Amino acid sequence: MQHNDFEKVKESLGGISRRDFIKFCSVVAAGMSLPLSAGKDIANAVTNPNRPPVIWLSGQGCTGCTESLLRPSTHFTLESLLLNLISLEYNETLNAGAGHQAENHKKKMVDKYTGKFVLVVEGAVPTKDGGIYCQIAGRPFQEILKETAEKAGAIIAIGSCASWGGLVKSDPNPTGAKGAPEVLKGKTVVTVPGCPPNPYNFLSTVAHYITYNKLPAIDQKGRPKFAYRRLIHEDCPRRPHFDAGRFAESFGDEGHQKGYCLYKLGCKGPVTYNNCSLKHFNDVGTWPVNTGAPCFGCSEEDVGFDIPKFREADLTKESIITPSATPAGIHYDQGSGFSAGAAALAGAAVGAAAGAGAVTVKHMKSNPNEDDE
Ligand code: SF4
Ligand code: F3S
Repeated sequence: MQHNDFEKVKESLGGISRRDFIKFCSVVAAGMSLPLSAGKDIANAVTNPNRPPVIWLSGQGCTGCTESLLRPSTHFTLESLLLNLISLEYNETLNAGAGHQAENHKKKMVDKYTGKFVLVVEGAVPTKDGGIYCQIAGRPFQEILKETAEKAGAIIAIGSCASWGGLVKSDPNPTGAKGAPEVLKGKTVVTVPGCPPNPYNFLSTVAHYITYNKLPAIDQKGRPKFAYRRLIHEDCPRRPHFDAGRFAESFGDEGHQKGYCLYKLGCKGPVTYNNCSLKHFNDVGTWPVNTGAPCFGCSEEDVGFDIPKFREADLTKESIITPSATPAGIHYDQGSGFSAGAAALAGAAVGAAAGAGAVTVKHMKSNPNEDDE
């Protein structure tokens, strides 16, 4: 990282030292499963005055994704890093200018950075009746999106609405709402679903593109694998209660107060891929399940906004027996290497978990309340 580049942005980062800044970027790199040494590359890229700008288009949504990104930080975080360093050239919620002034600036930036800028799409795209149900500057959003996407270097759909239609697409979908990938068929659109998504997942995706000029590895639904490769259920701190068959049966009951598993209250953690249980939201480090609220599957297509909130998740849909990567009670610092014996023990542990899961499922199926919806 050039000293001069860093000195120019140091103040906007709260006066952090260059050394601490690189350390912080190394943590960001680790969050994306990159080697720690990648932290220096990220630090270089995001402080480079020539980094590509971001053009942010908002369609049919509640602006919650932008709001989530703006939640105040009381310490130096990725949000403050990128909101101070990202070249956000157009965002209808945050633009200082309005009307022709804002539209002209967007056109200027799109033309100047053709093939380079990051296009962020927030909100669904209404397509019925020529897309008239969401218009910006007198033009249907879907037209603006298609023409801007033609010139973008990378496209990121932030939030569930932009990813597949989210809430606005749910039945009866009166505006014919669709997600950006469906409207931009044939183009690579990275999706960062959630309602709202965790800002870390979105901003890490942007940081990856700015640093390496390519998007992070994605799954078959376009989601960055670093954030969406595991079920919430796999890393949930309430998982031992699930395996042991200890459940909250109603809000406020003894089990709920004791922090038991929320499965019977409709938790969709067993069918939702996301890293909420590992990467908590904003400064307060919270996420739905640790506040006592069941996950409703906001980031999973066909789950959030489609399956009734308090209906139990279908446990046959995904494998739910994968043990957590950080099982309680194992002291890694007391071992050395992974021996055949350890492998056998691990196998036994997996078997035990599978058995516990099977017992749990059996236990739950015999519960007379299971048909209450
Ligand atoms: Fe956690 Fe929900 Fe799974 Fe229970 S069902 S362990 S609360 S994710
Ligand atoms: Fe959404 Fe569930 Fe995470 S409701 S925020 S995917 S815990």
